[in-house]
Amino acid sequence: MTDTTRFAGYGVLITGAARGIGAAVARRLAEEGARVLVTDVDGPEAEKTASKLRESGLTARASACDVADRASVEAAVAHAVDTFGSLDVLVNSAASCTPDTPLFEDGPDEAWARDLDVTLTGTYRCCRAALPHLAAGGRGAIVNIGSVNGLQDFGNHAYSAAKAGLGSLTRTLAGHAASRAVRVNLVTPGTVRTSAWEGREAELDAIRPLYPLGRVGEPEDIAAAVAFLASRDAAWITGTTLTVDGGLTAVNTGFHVGTRQRGGA
Ligand SMILES: NC(=O)c1ccc[n+]([C@@H]2O[C@H](COP(=O)([O-])OP(=O)(O)OC[C@H]3O[C@@H](n4cnc5c(N)ncnc54)[C@H](O)[C@@H]3O)[C@@H](O)[C@H]2O)c1
Repeated sequence: MTDTTRFAGYGVLITGAARGIGAAVARRLAEEGARVLVTDVDGPEAEKTASKLRESGLTARASACDVADRASVEAAVAHAVDTFGSLDVLVNSAASCTPDTPLFEDGPDEAWARDLDVTLTGTYRCCRAALPHLAAGGRGAIVNIGSVNGLQDFGNHAYSAAKAGLGSLTRTLAGHAASRAVRVNLVTPGTVRTSAWEGREAELDAIRPLYPLGRVGEPEDIAAAVAFLASRDAAWITGTTLTVDGGLTAVNTGFHVGTRQRGGA
């Protein structure tokens, strides 16, 4: 049963929240009492998501925000503080993932730069703008959304390098912000059924057997982990990485298939 008071009185800003994981996080935190600012580079879609939350009796506003643009990020943070009176939680979900470019031929600089700029630098821009406000309330928390791509090779080299960088950024910010009572953590999801996988059912079917828990993730699986790390239940947790991937990176599925074929344990 959802605790509808865990985030009562909290002001929350989520990037990339018009759809997918960001939207599920917005709903989860709002259901637990938060006032959420749904931000996205797609402003009209962010407004639709916020309005659905309001239709459910929850407190939500929307703001267009491109994390690749410093002024846009600073305006969104100011909007959250002005609207809610405080900013207590920042969730960085926006990312860019360019399909793999040919490394052995002629990979364009632009695709690499875009993935790094949105996924890694964008998260940094949001943290930089939000940190003074997060510190002011005495219960600040940042949850960055990484990926198993930052832990192992799953392709998409620029996106993966950016996601790996989030691990370092999370730990460094945690060290800097701890004395101001702001916690910074990272969630690294495996495959999650969102618009990023739309029209790719065959790929999802092919991937499913790699997941020890027998399914790919749903946005709500990630939202639950984010809510935990953002909440007072995680009051003594900072600088950590919580992998939410149905066992994908912990269990060597290929090895087990091999040993079973050879009659092993
Ligand atoms: N879906 C997965 O399988 C999966 C797996 C691991 C990690 N993740 C991570 O989870 C997060 C959310 O992914 P998702 O699957 O929900 O994606 P999604 O495509 O459903 O949603 C991403 C949202 O980010 C927005 N966005 C893109 N560029 C932006 C920018 N410059 N500024 C602000 N918003 C921007 C998009 O408009 C979109 O609404 C991402 O960080 C992604 O890397 C997803």
